[in-house]
Amino acid sequence: MQRQVLITGGNSGIGYEMAAALVENGDHVIIASRDLAKSQAAADAIAKAAGTTGELGTIEALALDLADLGDVDRFAARLSERLTRLDVAILNAGLYTHGTRALDNGLEAMIGIMHFGHFRLMQGLRGLLEATPGARVVVTASIAHRIGRIRFDTFEAPNKHRAAIQAYAQAKLANILFTRELAERLGEADVRVNCFHPGAIATGIWTELPGPIRKLFGAVLTDTKSGADTGIWLARDDDALAHQGAYLVGRKPATISKAAADKRLARTLWSETEKRLARLVG
Ligand SMILES: NC(=O)c1ccc[n+]([C@@H]2O[C@H](COP(=O)([O-])OP(=O)(O)OC[C@H]3O[C@@H](n4cnc5c(N)ncnc54)[C@H](OP(=O)(O)O)[C@@H]3O)[C@@H](O)[C@H]2O)c1
Repeated sequence: MQRQVLITGGNSGIGYEMAAALVENGDHVIIASRDLAKSQAAADAIAKAAGTTGELGTIEALALDLADLGDVDRFAARLSERLTRLDVAILNAGLYTHGTRALDNGLEAMIGIMHFGHFRLMQGLRGLLEATPGARVVVTASIAHRIGRIRFDTFEAPNKHRAAIQAYAQAKLANILFTRELAERLGEADVRVNCFHPGAIATGIWTELPGPIRKLFGAVLTDTKSGADTGIWLARDDDALAHQGAYLVGRKPATISKAAADKRLARTLWSETEKRLARLVG
């Protein structure tokens, strides 16, 4: 049976490479981002490159804005109606803002999209994942989590961050805490949940960096294919099934910060997120 794969942010960068590889693997891949025209063009290019004829995998593009929690709910409902299984959910969409800003719902943009948007999406799709034997959740985290701190008072107060990097690092730390706590909460369910750091990769995420920093940073960035490798492996390979609640770099478990390893913090982040979501979307 063809595996059903969802990738958020699959229309460019690391997500695009993961989508291409999983189509090559024979999966049906759904890429979901804000810009539907860009996603459709990406899906067409991936299908063309793979020579998708039905022997290989298939791909489609759907619109999803993780900054709009109502849209996340509608998306999850639509997918749950359409699909009877979800084999892989790759929570990959992300952004780095120049300075910090609030979304329309009041949340700081990076925590709002990368953590709250994905958390809400998983609330909507958890049943489908649990009903799929051998399902996998893969989260694109980052080594930047090491300099991150969870400061609940900043979630709805972007100006409390002194610099955008603090908000980005906090959101990537939240991605790891979420991965670990979801794995814990799924207990005996047949769902693997892991995250990975792709490396420092040349993608569109850095376009909001100030010019000179972008230029300096650009010199050390590597290609999207290598950035996607661990994510593809987690989503596809049997060897990856040995991991649960892990953070991987180069297909191997890697050290996480003290904050990322803090189980109490993971539980508190979960309940604080649920509390805010209940207020924001009911
Ligand atoms: N590049 C690196 O060096 C690096 C390092 C560590 C971790 N990461 C992580 O890798 C992930 C992928 O980033 P990338 O580097 O591949 O950057 P990218 O090429 O800019 O991809 C980001 C993706 O996220 C989507 N996206 C942004 N905001 C969204 C929203 N509100 N709703 C839905 N989709 C949204 C974008 O599509 P639309 O604009 O169409 O919405 C795009 O497809 C991110 O989580 C990032 O934090 C990257």
